[in-house]
Amino acid sequence: MSPFALTRTLPADATAAALRADVATGLTRTPKELPPKWFYDARGSELFDEITRLPEYYPTRAEREIIIARADEIAAATRARTLVELGSGSSDKTRHLIRALASLDHYVPVDVSESALTGAAGGLLADHPELTVHALVADFQYGLHLPATPAPRLLAFLGGTIGNLRPQERSAFFAAVRAELAPGDALLLGADLVKDERTLVRAYDDAAGVTAAFNKNVLTVINRELEADFDPDDFDHVALWDPRQEWIEMRLRARAALVAKIPALDLAVNFAAGEELRTEISAKFREEGVRAELATAGLETTHWWTDEEGRFALSLSVPAAG
Ligand code: SAH
Ligand code: TRP
Repeated sequence: MSPFALTRTLPADATAAALRADVATGLTRTPKELPPKWFYDARGSELFDEITRLPEYYPTRAEREIIIARADEIAAATRARTLVELGSGSSDKTRHLIRALASLDHYVPVDVSESALTGAAGGLLADHPELTVHALVADFQYGLHLPATPAPRLLAFLGGTIGNLRPQERSAFFAAVRAELAPGDALLLGADLVKDERTLVRAYDDAAGVTAAFNKNVLTVINRELEADFDPDDFDHVALWDPRQEWIEMRLRARAALVAKIPALDLAVNFAAGEELRTEISAKFREEGVRAELATAGLETTHWWTDEEGRFALSLSVPAAG
């Protein structure tokens, strides 16, 4: 068998249908809202990679620091033969883990972005000829159909992407993950932590404007896929800290009243001056909260690691006994 396989659980037209449905629903409700997975076309994945290198965007560096420091401990605790990674993106930090996992023979990166998956696989296969890479173009929120690969399996969900799910989606996600895990398997979860507002807001509103371009990319995706006529320059990027929910909220704010035409949906969307389109939340966590949510799903946290500055946490959990 070839050491690389790419499987699509979402046929291209199902993706198009899902985008149409999300845009039709999200842009006709109040407040207007879109699910974040539509940021990640090829350009969006590139822009996200650029975000990870920004001086203001600390989560990637903090998580990499923890992974490097703890890779051997993770390997000893899991002895994983399969590494499944949800929302794997560039798989950049994951390489430190793959190097440390001595028993690993299967890597299953799962992402909605096909360009990210193919981009990551090339380098990985060159460096690890012993590895079978089975990339999966799939939505991790709707039914994980993972290939049958050898146990024990380690399921990684890095980058703080868990924070992009709303609380209800989060509990459904953890329950689905728990259902995938057999005794001996484990979940490795990266979560960004609550900290001062200034640091948080800067991480989502950088001086160079890369995050603004990333946020606006969702309009470009809708223009291309649904023949819409959004002008990204008609919108301002907004990043707000909500201290009650403890999440960052990303929005696009119309600079003036405007009408966007979306011919593929036979729709015209009105924006009042200053009206906001909600594009993403990025929740920040506390140790007790993460442990409690995992416990509710039947997952027991066995390890909790942070970077030196206490900005970001990586946790390892296993199916709870009983
Ligand atoms: N894990 C990487 C990338 C994080 S960015 C890191 O830590 O740097 C989030 C990634 O999840 C992107 O690659 C995006 O394409 C993917 N993604 C977002 N929503 C998704 C969904 N619903 N299903 C599958 N992948 C998704
Ligand atoms: N998972 C990343 C995060 O919440 C995604 C992200 C970073 C993001 N910057 C963004 C999403 C800006 C939308 C806009 O940190």
